[in-house]
Amino acid sequence: PEVISVQELANRMSERSVDVIKCLMKLGIMATANQTIDADTAELVVEELGHTAKRVAESDVEIGLGMDDQDAEETLLPRAPVVAVMGHVDHGKTSLLDALRKTDVVSGEAGGITQHIGAYQVKLASGNVITFLDTPGHEAFTAMRMRGASVTDIVILVVAADDSVMPQTIEAIKHAKAAGVPIIIAINKCDKPAANPDKVRQELLQHEVFVEDMGGDVLSVEVSALNGTGLDKLQDAILLQSEMLELRANPERAAQGTVVESKIETGRGMVATVLVKRGTLRIGDNFVAGSAYGKVRALLDHRGNQVEEAGPSVPVEILGIQGAPVAGDDFAVTENEGKAKEIAEYRLRLEKEKKVTATARGTIEQMFSAI
Ligand code: GTP
Ligand code: MG
Repeated sequence: PEVISVQELANRMSERSVDVIKCLMKLGIMATANQTIDADTAELVVEELGHTAKRVAESDVEIGLGMDDQDAEETLLPRAPVVAVMGHVDHGKTSLLDALRKTDVVSGEAGGITQHIGAYQVKLASGNVITFLDTPGHEAFTAMRMRGASVTDIVILVVAADDSVMPQTIEAIKHAKAAGVPIIIAINKCDKPAANPDKVRQELLQHEVFVEDMGGDVLSVEVSALNGTGLDKLQDAILLQSEMLELRANPERAAQGTVVESKIETGRGMVATVLVKRGTLRIGDNFVAGSAYGKVRALLDHRGNQVEEAGPSVPVEILGIQGAPVAGDDFAVTENEGKAKEIAEYRLRLEKEKKVTATARGTIEQMFSAI
């Protein structure tokens, strides 16, 4: 971890905490035995006191989660692409997500009440399925990335044909590129008389987005979220892109994924939407989600129907959580309740320690600025 308490550091070196505190003072850091210091500082102290520093894995208790194990090649099966929509304000992100939602052959036009669970799936007439993250805007995308989560396989960049490339278009390009996620351009509002798709393709060149018509390999589709034109072509482009990405996962293992949304609901308690990355999540599974944990009491799909299980790329609402997970937290099924609780409590403790360190730093900075 990035933090260790002064006392703990002293214990591990079999030194007195007062000597560690003195050493820290020499380095210009005022700390008490209960305060925490970061790994770099700890390493300095360790060497200063004549020991050798050896950084260990995040925590022994975390190792059991196996978030980084690779699944064997023969266990991998194709999975649906997970798509996020980004773009400048008012360019039609919400309209496009709504229009795409209506193309689902399962719920159909008469689908009734739409459940908003942060993500939804569309089943195409061809039988192919696409998962859409229903949280438009790059804020959600970056917030998740900052927590180390990478849920998105493909970014749909919406650019209004009558407004062309704007500041948030450029922002979105930067974010997608930084994350290494391929972009598909949806040139929206093509129904408008002032629409100029060529100008959009042209301006994208300046930001190193080379669409097909310009000799590049970025897929681009002209659409109208308003009257539904081009949506089938956009879906084809998504499927083509996902074939190129060869998206696969092992459905036969303990589920792992990412929290995409969480909220407290009256009568239901804490509810989180999880996007399963691999494995299959089932009712009764014990899990840890960030610093929360629990046992799956019920699973609901994006239409609000109770389901028994959720496999790779499926977004699902979970009931039965103790604590408060946040978007971007990782999610993992554990062997038993004890393990889930142990990891959650360990993470809670880390969070608290980090807060203490931040406060201590603030105090020291105030001390210096007062001088
Ligand atoms: P923010 O969430 O505020 O950033 O906007 P947004 O990108 O979600 O755009 P939204 O879907 O709210 O659409 C903005 C406006 O453009 C609305 O008035 C829509 O009706 C309109 N609009 C969206 N798509 C189209 C389209 O294809 N054609 C036309 N003519 N208008 C559209
Ligand atoms: Mg919107």
